[in-house]
Amino acid sequence: MTAQTALCGIVLHPAGHTKSPLMHNAAFREMDIDARYVAFDVPPEKLPEAIAGVRALGLKQLAVSVPHKVEVMALLDEVDAGAQQIGAVNTVTLRDGRLVGSNTDWVGSNRALERETTLAGKRAVVLGAGGAARGVVFGLLERGATVHVLNRTVEKAESLVKDLGAESAGAMGDLVSLDHDLLVNTTSVGLRSDDSPVPAEHLRQGTVVMDAVYDPEETRLLRDARERGATVVHGKWMLIYQAAEQIRTWTGREAPVDTLESAFRS
Ligand SMILES: NC(=O)c1ccc[n+]([C@@H]2O[C@H](COP(=O)([O-])OP(=O)(O)OC[C@H]3O[C@@H](n4cnc5c(N)ncnc54)[C@H](OP(=O)(O)O)[C@@H]3O)[C@@H](O)[C@H]2O)c1
Repeated sequence: MTAQTALCGIVLHPAGHTKSPLMHNAAFREMDIDARYVAFDVPPEKLPEAIAGVRALGLKQLAVSVPHKVEVMALLDEVDAGAQQIGAVNTVTLRDGRLVGSNTDWVGSNRALERETTLAGKRAVVLGAGGAARGVVFGLLERGATVHVLNRTVEKAESLVKDLGAESAGAMGDLVSLDHDLLVNTTSVGLRSDDSPVPAEHLRQGTVVMDAVYDPEETRLLRDARERGATVVHGKWMLIYQAAEQIRTWTGREAPVDTLESAFRS
């Protein structure tokens, strides 16, 4: 490190087990960028002070994670159109002295799905209506897919559908009666557990199934989907491509996806 080394980071609470510092620092090394990336554990009531600190210290980029993605919006100089429509910011970039908010989750989700399929004209079902769902649905609509949103709390699915202009909202059990090409789980079911949000018999051969959950890397949903003849996309790819998009937003350069993936696995 030198006096010129740039500082980037992630703000979240609790800090726990984020892989972002490992991934970004590996990419910076590979790209020969003189920068370091650290995790800041900031409780909600300290977020305004943390953002003031970002301004004062001139951090180049700050990733924003749970629970700050909505509250951070009011503390920035500008929020781009995509993040405004999604209703959440996961990236703050310093540009000409101004803090600009954007959302790279939807880019990550699209690029992860596009490893296996095209999206235009596809019929998609998104399970969940929280922060991750809003990014995934926005991305699918951007590409011209038709999107049905199913959630345990149906009212939340209904407001998401209304806000983003998706096709329909319903309960999780409605999956069985919806013809679809793509299924994306954005609920937290399966996170550090062997549960699945969908009974295995509702999964269909020939569909593409992505799980936003990336811990464990292969969730029960993806195991069941593979056994039923679906093509599966691991949530780690969504995480990796959204990180690559953050680096591109700051530096204007494409980040090495293989390096990000090795860091994720380490
Ligand atoms: N791969 C990536 O890059 C990426 C990015 C962002 C998030 N994620 C992952 O996506 C997951 C969701 O994150 P989030 O930020 O969207 O969280 P969130 O805003 O808290 O939303 C959680 C969602 O899960 C549903 N849910 C929770 N427990 C449930 C249960 N027992 N049965 C059915 N539904 C349940 C909630 O339904 P209700 O509305 O009914 O409560 C809600 O739709 C997390 O596992 C997170 O790690 C991955």
